[in-house]
Amino acid sequence: MSEKTASSTHPTNPAPAPAGPGAVKAPAPAARASGAAAPAPPASGPAAPEASGAAPGVPASRRGSRMFPDGTGPSPDPAGSHFERRIRSFQPRRSRVTVGQADALRRLWPVWGLDIDGQRVLDLDGMFDGLPVVLEIGFGMGEATARMAAADPSTGILAVDVHTPGQGNLLGLAERNGLTNVRVANGDAIILLREMLPPASLAGVRVYFPDPWPKKRHHKRRLIQPEFLSLVAPRMKPGALLHCATDWEPYAEQMLEVLTAHPDFENTVPGGYAPRPGFRPLTRFEGQGLEKGHVVHDLLFARA
Ligand SMILES: C[S@@+](CC[C@H](N)C(=O)[O-])C[C@H]1O[C@@H](n2cnc3c(N)ncnc32)[C@H](O)[C@@H]1O
Repeated sequence: MSEKTASSTHPTNPAPAPAGPGAVKAPAPAARASGAAAPAPPASGPAAPEASGAAPGVPASRRGSRMFPDGTGPSPDPAGSHFERRIRSFQPRRSRVTVGQADALRRLWPVWGLDIDGQRVLDLDGMFDGLPVVLEIGFGMGEATARMAAADPSTGILAVDVHTPGQGNLLGLAERNGLTNVRVANGDAIILLREMLPPASLAGVRVYFPDPWPKKRHHKRRLIQPEFLSLVAPRMKPGALLHCATDWEPYAEQMLEVLTAHPDFENTVPGGYAPRPGFRPLTRFEGQGLEKGHVVHDLLFARA
């Protein structure tokens, strides 16, 4: 099977175990990887108004199987998020996972992977050895994440996405580059924020090129909305930066409007967009936008 050949179409079909060269027995789960500090309280902070119907109420049998037949690897829907009655910012998609990505997922998921199951509050200090932790929502294929982690080993990056090939890709990049400050979370960032992150635990939040949902009837799916900001703000330390970037002009305008109006955030560039900070590399999605002639806007708001 070539690298390009699909080894699975996760999430709907569990993948066969990868048999390519380099596939080794999965290491024993590291204590730090689980990050479990305590069972999640029934309500850990304010719930997003759109987030009605708690994930923990979804029976385990409806949360989806794991990627590999032996019950390892990420689960397509670890918290049963798809059964919640709310509008999501992503669309579940059939994902082609290469042999290399599957190999990384099989070997490294038990060490650096985290399923967003909505069942426990995370001990970020334990997971990242006390490093300040930045949450990146929607890392895509993870190239920019890996570059940021390599450039700043004194910051931990909790990178979350639902995209299985990207999770495998980022794990592989982390291994090849000797990165120890990245953890890869699988599932819906809303549930991670709502159920699993303690108050004032994040040193920053990065949302780079969130799905623009250009059609008017899909605007409600956009991530950066007042309800999202009210969910994320209490999880951020005072002064922590919420950094957004988009190449979709109308979405940039919406971001600026809702962030400016929100009482928990202050624009570091009063009234306007920020120049791209040196720590943010160009991302894959950004590159595609630039090729189409799109203009990119960064927004840097501090938690008040
Ligand atoms: C347009 S892509 C951008 C990827 C990357 N940041 C880049 O610039 O190349 C947006 C990503 O956000 C992810 N995403 C959207 N909503 C999400 C959510 N609620 N939780 C986790 N990931 C989400 C999607 O799966 C997708 O991979």
